[in-house]
Amino acid sequence: MRPVRVAVLVSGGGTNLQMLLDALADSEVARVARVVSSDAAAGALERARRAGVPTTVLADPSDATQVIASLGDAGLVVLAGYLKQVPPAAVARFRLRLINIHPALLPAFGGPGMYGRRVHERVLASGAAISGATVHYVDEEYDRGPIIAQWPVPVRPGDTPETLAARVLDVEHRLLPLVVLELAKRGVPRAPVRLSAGGSAFVTGDDVALDFDWGG
Ligand code: GRF
Repeated sequence: MRPVRVAVLVSGGGTNLQMLLDALADSEVARVARVVSSDAAAGALERARRAGVPTTVLADPSDATQVIASLGDAGLVVLAGYLKQVPPAAVARFRLRLINIHPALLPAFGGPGMYGRRVHERVLASGAAISGATVHYVDEEYDRGPIIAQWPVPVRPGDTPETLAARVLDVEHRLLPLVVLELAKRGVPRAPVRLSAGGSAFVTGDDVALDFDWGG
């Protein structure tokens, strides 16, 4: 089976992109084929160039024709720190092949304007005892598409938005490549996939592997 060609949409520094580039570098099931940015100054572009992956900068991220053309023959499209809304026509073209990672446990703490530091500020203000990362399908509404996988992290006493963001980002870096590889292994099914945590997992920490029973 030809590796699934993965296109990654970015807007920022690209640490999630870097984890994908590293995890898929020698993969037989998926390859990062192109990186598309909403911002010419995004640090993620330099990471792509260092990895020899073609890049595109969108002149108008709200233009569906441009977005669809930039994604080309991608079999799977990943939003990794992408801050723009994907135009409806592009969502329709890549339905169930378009996924996003969000630094909170959706459906809470998501929606328009909910990105970066603001997400973690809201989690801390809510008094929640856990936060985490979510990978979900992208539809016509911000952060509302069917959830594929989630992994929690504890909110610790004395946490600041920065310390919580760092703990969540660590889990994002492990969760996103796992989900991409699993979807690719399955040929990117045209029906929503849900991946459930395995056994008595949900214990985080450096030595704990993210453990999923690949349901279904
Ligand atoms: C990450 O927390 C991601 O969930 C969010 O943007 C942050 C930046 O990620 N959407 P990256 O370093 O640009 O991948």
